[in-house]
Amino acid sequence: MNGVNILTRGIGLAECSHNGNRIRLLSSEKNAEVIHMDILPDSIIWMSPGDKGSTEYYYILEGKLLLILDDGEQTLSKGDSFSVSGIDSEFPVKCLERLSLLCFSNKPIYDDMYHHMGSLKELVEQTERKNKYTYDHGKRVMQYSLLLAEELNIDPATINVMVMAAALHDVGKCFLPDHILAEDNELTAYDRMQIIKHPLNSYRLIAGKFDERTASMAQMHHERIDGSGYPFGLKGNEIPLEARIIIVADVFDAMTTDRPYKAKKSFDAAIEELESLQHQYDSRVIAALKRLCQEGKLEGGKE
Ligand SMILES: [Fe+2]
Ligand SMILES: [Fe+2]
Repeated sequence: MNGVNILTRGIGLAECSHNGNRIRLLSSEKNAEVIHMDILPDSIIWMSPGDKGSTEYYYILEGKLLLILDDGEQTLSKGDSFSVSGIDSEFPVKCLERLSLLCFSNKPIYDDMYHHMGSLKELVEQTERKNKYTYDHGKRVMQYSLLLAEELNIDPATINVMVMAAALHDVGKCFLPDHILAEDNELTAYDRMQIIKHPLNSYRLIAGKFDERTASMAQMHHERIDGSGYPFGLKGNEIPLEARIIIVADVFDAMTTDRPYKAKKSFDAAIEELESLQHQYDSRVIAALKRLCQEGKLEGGKE
């Protein structure tokens, strides 16, 4: 009959799944959407401010969740509901028991959900799909960080944390629009502000899956010893040695890789430049990098 749309069990207009979590778009009319979410325990869903005037209403069909709000936490279960409208900052929802959740929204949110969901592993794969350079860069920064940490006799437990933080440090770039990631366009002031936010997004994504130390190490990868870095302008000892290693590994890879706006430098030229920037980068780490280079151990970092 005209005007009646039927979706039989399990079928949606669109759907995606990450690590067993599944979201299905059931209806999309004049931008208003109805979405069903099937979420596994321990997963985290982020509620974002969204567009002005947007309201999302969630009804719990099965399971239990925890709303983690600025002013406290609230557990909700089957038959409970909550709505999100006009929030100024994001907040996480933790799934305590397998969740079947129905969401009604007066603005399109399915695409945003798609990007916010899923495990970090899949997020890294998503990074690879979105921007191959960022994905390869993460792998090289991890390899350089590991070599530097061993050279500087960092304890094995810290190395384990560091390696993860190094591999994932730029995962927050997943949320940057393609034209910024392409790096061959003139950037606006707004674009630059978006870029400055990426370590905060990396922190947020990593903290949802790993421990605080891993997340905060990754968040520091654009800080500089003299306080000229971002997002917080940390200075001196506010940046631990482990983070200083990732910082040097990150900038060294950026210098020694071809980018749309600049040709790559040789390893020696990059180290020489770093030596002239010891007010920004740790001199012990630069010295270790130089030793590794002289011993020919950095070559494995390149594909
Ligand atoms: Fe970065
Ligand atoms: Fe990076």
